[in-house]
Amino acid sequence: MKETRILLAQAGEITPTSAKEYGAVGGYQGLKKALAAPDKIVDIIKASGLRGRGGAGFPAGLKLSFTANTPADQKYIVCNADEGEPGTNKDRVIMEKVPHRLIEGMAIAGVAVGADKGYIYLRAEYPYVAEILEKALADARENGFLGTDILGSGHNFHIELFIGAGAYVCGEETALLDSLEGKRGEPRFKPPYPGVAGLWGKPTVINNVETLANLPGIVANGPAWFRQTGTETCPGTKLFSLSGNIANPGVYEFPIGTSIRTIFQEAGGGCPGGKKLMAIQTGGASGNIIPASLLDTPMDIDCCAKAGATFGAGDLMFIDDDQCLLDILENLMEFFEEESCGKCTPCREGNTQLLYLVRKFKDGTAEDGDLELMLELGNTMTGGCLCGLGQASPNPILSAVRFFPELFKTKSTQKGRVS
Ligand SMILES: Cc1cc2nc3c(=O)[nH]c(=O)nc-3n(C[C@H](O)[C@H](O)[C@H](O)COP(=O)(O)O)c2cc1C
Ligand code: SF4
Repeated sequence: MKETRILLAQAGEITPTSAKEYGAVGGYQGLKKALAAPDKIVDIIKASGLRGRGGAGFPAGLKLSFTANTPADQKYIVCNADEGEPGTNKDRVIMEKVPHRLIEGMAIAGVAVGADKGYIYLRAEYPYVAEILEKALADARENGFLGTDILGSGHNFHIELFIGAGAYVCGEETALLDSLEGKRGEPRFKPPYPGVAGLWGKPTVINNVETLANLPGIVANGPAWFRQTGTETCPGTKLFSLSGNIANPGVYEFPIGTSIRTIFQEAGGGCPGGKKLMAIQTGGASGNIIPASLLDTPMDIDCCAKAGATFGAGDLMFIDDDQCLLDILENLMEFFEEESCGKCTPCREGNTQLLYLVRKFKDGTAEDGDLELMLELGNTMTGGCLCGLGQASPNPILSAVRFFPELFKTKSTQKGRVS
């Protein structure tokens, strides 16, 4: 099965920064439609069934409606381009190859909710992407797609590029907003949600790059067109980031609902060197680790949840049977311990303790009761942490205990490292 390229249809075919070239292949048609009938856009996006591509899968139309329905003198569109989840590279490809698709999506969102200002919060480690975006933004302004009185419609929409703080937690939407306001990036207590009180307390739509990049196609071609691809509850295509022990790592676009096996074999080319696949970490560093026996799981939010996998932002890290899962868990927990912002106790202390316990299993020094303690701590963090970082960081461990229980031996059951 070949890729289904919709978001990336023009990737490699046009000069990325050129608004004219993008316009010549159908670009900016959605914006023109939005400018002609701004009041219809929220309903069109709702009818399309588009769900957020940043990890949580929140309905995009509903999110737009919160901001559209909140009266304010100033509203904002914020694009979350922080892309800090280890293993996620897909937003980079959109911004590098088809940046006007993102710019158009933001402008459509602005017109739909009555916002005249947008920010792109860009991952600090993507300086070359910043150059591309700046050029594309300048070209969009020059050609009348951005700025004051866009395309003579009377609508204004300005976009500013903001370089992120280089912290994983700043991808969390409210920490991102604090960072954008010039503060230390720490998650806020919710409610209020950003849709009602976001950037500088004003109603703010905050969406992932890929979510926003879907708006032009939906508005130009209609919700029924969008629903032709993907699944009933999760329409459209998805950019999947493939990494780990895979012959062809990279970013590939497939309809949502495509099985992991198809993506693994057709795009990824299987494990290199004829190695045997042992496990897959789904949904990024904070996603579940599932066994190779679940390779036929469709990559769809609901199917993943049912199977014990994580859809997340569409990351698939493949792990062959030469690897030690406990090494991988240790590496992941080191990341979360480092990236915890420290605002709440279960995450600040919990990640350190989870790392300590994983190391005990890895070193063969785990004692009776350590597994129960690890599970209790992980479940407490899932329910008790303030933001998604601490809520999700135990996922790799909890899923590994579920699917690979033989790894978690104590001194009394088996001494030594198990891999
Ligand atoms: C620790 C953490 C990091 C996150 N990083 C990102 C990120 O890099 N990009 C992103 O779009 N969403 C990220 N999110 C999710 C955002 O909080 C938010 O749900 C998302 O930007 C909403 O966009 P969407 O509705 O278009 O998916 C992160 C969440 C957490 C808890
Ligand atoms: S869960 Fe972790 S990252 Fe999130 S607010 Fe609490 S300490 Fe900070």
